[in-house]
Amino acid sequence: MDILKLIEEAYEAKKYSYAPYSKFHVGAALLTASGKIYKGCNIENAAYSPTNCAERTAFFKAVSEGEKDFCAIAIVGDKEEFLTPCGVCRQVMQEFCDEKTFQIVSARTKTDYKIYTLEALFPGAFSVKNL
Ligand code: THU
Repeated sequence: MDILKLIEEAYEAKKYSYAPYSKFHVGAALLTASGKIYKGCNIENAAYSPTNCAERTAFFKAVSEGEKDFCAIAIVGDKEEFLTPCGVCRQVMQEFCDEKTFQIVSARTKTDYKIYTLEALFPGAFSVKNL
């Protein structure tokens, strides 16, 4: 997997971020097992709660086109900090991704990144196993 390319794609996705309220621009790039990349940005709304995070935009684009096997997601923001997904996005990730092998790549520049697992970021998740 080319992590730097995935980060680059996340920065491309961030260009389309619609964040007039928070002014917090986020981009994500989701890599499928077949090698395709789905990009997503955050999309805000005047009513606030309809806002969709960049990560979920990428997931929903991919799943709506038949993808269900994912290897990694790169996430980038505007700040010089490592951005990790919100709880709702973690919940969506756990629906489709293996908690040990799916890689959550948080980049604060095009070359400086950290990799997390869902196991580390979202222990005790509610999942199909609880139903
Ligand atoms: N946001 C994301 O897109 N991804 C994250 O991981 C954290 C938050 C968005 C939602 C909202 O548009 C803005 O960032 C501020 O919360």
